[in-house]
Amino acid sequence: MEENSLIQAANRIASTQGLVAFTGAGISEESGIPTFRGNGGLWDRYPPERFANMAGLLGEFFLRPKRVATFLQEILRSCLDAQPNPAHVALAQWEAQGILRAVLTQNIDTLHERAGCSKIIKLHGSIDCLRCTDCGFKQDLDATQMQRWVQVLSPDGIGRRQLWRALRKILSPCPYCGGRRRPDVVFFGDLLPPDAWAEAQQAASLCQILLVIGTSGLVRPAADLPLLAKKAGTILIEINPKPTPLTPLADLYLEGKASEVMKELVERVDSIRR
Ligand code: OAD
Repeated sequence: MEENSLIQAANRIASTQGLVAFTGAGISEESGIPTFRGNGGLWDRYPPERFANMAGLLGEFFLRPKRVATFLQEILRSCLDAQPNPAHVALAQWEAQGILRAVLTQNIDTLHERAGCSKIIKLHGSIDCLRCTDCGFKQDLDATQMQRWVQVLSPDGIGRRQLWRALRKILSPCPYCGGRRRPDVVFFGDLLPPDAWAEAQQAASLCQILLVIGTSGLVRPAADLPLLAKKAGTILIEINPKPTPLTPLADLYLEGKASEVMKELVERVDSIRR
């Protein structure tokens, strides 16, 4: 990590009340949640054309039910087992200090809220929520309910019929209208939740600094947010161990893992503000 960029980033962050963070899977990687792309990533093992959309998943359900159960169980279990890491905690600390205005996240894990952030805009939904496809009623789920899902999805010896039963248990009818429910997460081809998208666009274009952490910047429309911020004159700071398509736009690129860079930044910001 280049010392000079780190100093400049710390100076800018220490003197703002207008920081917004835009996060992707990389921020949760050190908490044990796999990223999507790259070697060993989720989409490397479960091709997105078959696992990241409803039609593909339905096909897999018929052809490879055990694989579907393994996929769903892995996502649920990794989110349930993970704990916030120093990068999530640092953002919560900056929120409490009045530096950070909001976190715009593509992540469906719940690590930002569990770290103590309160202003979170979830662009791709949340693993701990079910949504009725008829009336729109949303129900948050607790860890115990999700643990039960992990158990019913046990891939050992699971066939089509058992998977169907498990999914019916998980996606029970809406308690209000009896309608069909689905996880409140965005699949490929779905629109982003309109309110979240509008709020995110506003936050990105009105902030002073957009801190982009751990995203490949490949998935639109979320990946348009840094472009929008840049057009509005915002300072872009990127944290990522590898350059991304967003790096050429960044005013400061801090090469490294999210928790390592954020720990350094927090120390420096604290000492400047003291
Ligand atoms: P990706 O898996 O595409 O990218 C993860 C990024 O994190 C890469 O740029 C890595 O270099 C970086 N990274 C890895 N380890 C890191 C670490 N310890 N610290 C910081 N950065 C690290 O994940 P996203 O960009 O979040 O959408 O993917 C965007 C969307 O694509 C996801 O929300 C999901 C996926 O398909 C949907 O499913 C709709």
